[in-house]
Amino acid sequence: MKVQLRRFFCRGASLAVIAFGILLAGSAAAQDVDQGKRVFSNTAACTRCHGWAGNGAPEGPGYPTGADLRNSKLERADMKEVIQCGRAGSEMPSFARSAWSTLKCFGMTAADVGNMKPVPDGAQIGDAQIEALLDYLYAKVVGKPRATKSDCEEYFGAAAPRCAAL
Ligand code: HEC
Repeated sequence: MKVQLRRFFCRGASLAVIAFGILLAGSAAAQDVDQGKRVFSNTAACTRCHGWAGNGAPEGPGYPTGADLRNSKLERADMKEVIQCGRAGSEMPSFARSAWSTLKCFGMTAADVGNMKPVPDGAQIGDAQIEALLDYLYAKVVGKPRATKSDCEEYFGAAAPRCAAL
């Protein structure tokens, strides 16, 4: 009887540990997505050219039309490289300080890419910020259909005036 009881408690305790672990992992992932949204919207302001929905509609005058990230087919590692390095010969800037120097980009050096080298954006972001940004993009943007009113309200808050027209 005693042995059985002890077993029962041991099993209960390990289940509790596992459940707690899952909870922790879940909230860490949600935090990364939240942090990634801040990088997307504020720190790196990808929204300038890609729009809040990431669909490539620039926000604000003078910004070029970015790619539609909702429709991107890029794998995470390739998307990371585009964010770090920018895209040669286009208006997609580089966001990693070490891009095209200590960080090799697409197997090329700055000399190889010459005057096609993407401009470094005014906002340079570190690896942890880029990872959080990717968490956000793959959770909310990449592979998602056209943004709806409820996507808009999730982004800007319930009853945000600019979502009314959607
Ligand atoms: C100054 C405007 C500008 C800003 C700011 C900008 N982008 Fe871009 N981005 C572009 C343009 C233009 C393209 C299309 C490049 C091309 O012609 O292939 C692009 C392409 C991309 C692509 C390639 C998509 C694909 O499927 O090929 C990704 C990913 C991307 N941008 C992510 C980002 C992220 C994330 C940020 C913020 C860290 C950002 N961009 C900020 C202009 C911008």
